[in-house]
Amino acid sequence: MDSTTLWSKIALVIPYFFSLLAFFVLLEQINYWKKKRSLPGPLLVYPILGNVISLIKKPTKFWESQALTAKSSHHGLSANYVVGCFIVYVQKAELSHKIFSNVRPDAFNLIAHPYGKKIFGEHNLIYMTALSTYMTLKQNIILEHLKNWEKLASQNLTVPIELRLLCRDINLETSQTVFVGPYLSSKARADFNIDYILFNVGLMNMPIDLPCSGFRKAKLAVKRLIDILTDCAKECKSQLKSGKEPSCLIDFWMQEILNEMDSMPQSGINQYPPHSSDIDIGSYLFDFLFAAQDASTSSLLWAITLLDQHPAVLAKVREEVGRIWSPETNTLITAEQLREMKYTQAVAREIIRYRTPAAMVPHIAREDFPLTESYTIPKGTIVFPSVLDSSLQGFIDPEQFDPDRFSEERQEDKIYKRNYLGFGIGAHQCIGQRYALNHLVLFIAMFTSLFDFKRHKSDSCDEIIYVPTTCPKDNCLVYLSRSCTPYPSFVS
Ligand code: HEM
Repeated sequence: MDSTTLWSKIALVIPYFFSLLAFFVLLEQINYWKKKRSLPGPLLVYPILGNVISLIKKPTKFWESQALTAKSSHHGLSANYVVGCFIVYVQKAELSHKIFSNVRPDAFNLIAHPYGKKIFGEHNLIYMTALSTYMTLKQNIILEHLKNWEKLASQNLTVPIELRLLCRDINLETSQTVFVGPYLSSKARADFNIDYILFNVGLMNMPIDLPCSGFRKAKLAVKRLIDILTDCAKECKSQLKSGKEPSCLIDFWMQEILNEMDSMPQSGINQYPPHSSDIDIGSYLFDFLFAAQDASTSSLLWAITLLDQHPAVLAKVREEVGRIWSPETNTLITAEQLREMKYTQAVAREIIRYRTPAAMVPHIAREDFPLTESYTIPKGTIVFPSVLDSSLQGFIDPEQFDPDRFSEERQEDKIYKRNYLGFGIGAHQCIGQRYALNHLVLFIAMFTSLFDFKRHKSDSCDEIIYVPTTCPKDNCLVYLSRSCTPYPSFVS
């Protein structure tokens, strides 16, 4: 076929091709309008991609605009369209509560880390009884990191240090040590940390799986992370079989699995317990580490930011902690002392309410679900109940940072329980919440006892950004110096 004939054939097809394309674009729009109905949201959306570019380029602005649109409508909801997905943002606390309470096969499914209950649901006891072990591990790790922060800060006292990644490093090390401690070599830890960064960056990238894209790098990083954790599971199984005493979370969990396996012949069961293969355990551990990691980092950053903003609260924290524990004693903070720090605990709970780390918890509608009298969420919609918006409704002066709301006298945690969604509610409620709050209280107690600190003030530095958990806009720039002499040398 000569090139003129080829071109004339192509020219014949082109109008059909464009008509078909226009037809699909129209169909997509109609589908969007059918789902959106009377909800506020963009009238027209870009084909296929929808508004993903603005979501990725300026996530904070995107979600703020969803929130404002929802707030200004009587629905308390707003719609949008992202990479072929119809999404609904839920601003009203009652409606968010309704979504969390209807996580079941014929209503909503949690999208992120869905395996929590499978992993540790029945093993919560183990988790709690070992709290004192974790307290020792954590304090030693926190102390080493804080020493390093001081070293960094003292290099140039006029330049603030950025705490986002430094807080993340504390949490990476504590969660790795508490969950899989002895099975991660220092090389595996270093690889783990690099891959964890790639994974996080990938979360904020376009979900387009092309070679060298952030998304592809994140996918490969997750595979390597799961491989590392699968090796940990294998090693743990073999060490426990040869008589090692459990010392970290995976040990306690694996011990239960091995006990179940041992009792199989007597009980006539000839199938291994579900989720007991090394790769299953490695994958679930990855989910668990992910669930534990970033939200906790966010809570530490907000603790520093809010204590700096509220000197009276900081003074009360220092007074309380100083009454109960002092670094000069060279002793670790005990679980009992932590329980006595009632005000600091209230501060930690208020941090989670006022600046919720996981601002939204995406769910997918498995079936059509009548969320309000006038609007049914269509099957397949991704809904974003806003935990942050819920926390800022209902409570007395909800826009004020006021830890006393959780005091014995005021008990707003009980009165407005339905609005306190920082750890979710219902079937998939965060199983790490006590662990996370203890971690936060420990951190606050140590940080405020060991350091004098001041935020580096810049325009809108305290504003919320989504990375994707919440974080102060400047990544928490701080000047700090040691206030205790010398550092405690813990003897456990
Ligand atoms: C300040 C820190 C934390 C915050 C704000 C937080 C928040 C949340 C939220 C909002 C959910 C979803 C709840 C729902 O859908 O109802 C969740 C689930 C979960 N969290 Fe956390 N979390 C934190 C720390 C942790 C830690 C430290 C761990 C582990 C030790 C953890 C483990 C989990 C797990 C496994 C799930 C999934 C539960 C399930 O699917 O059944 N979280 N978390």
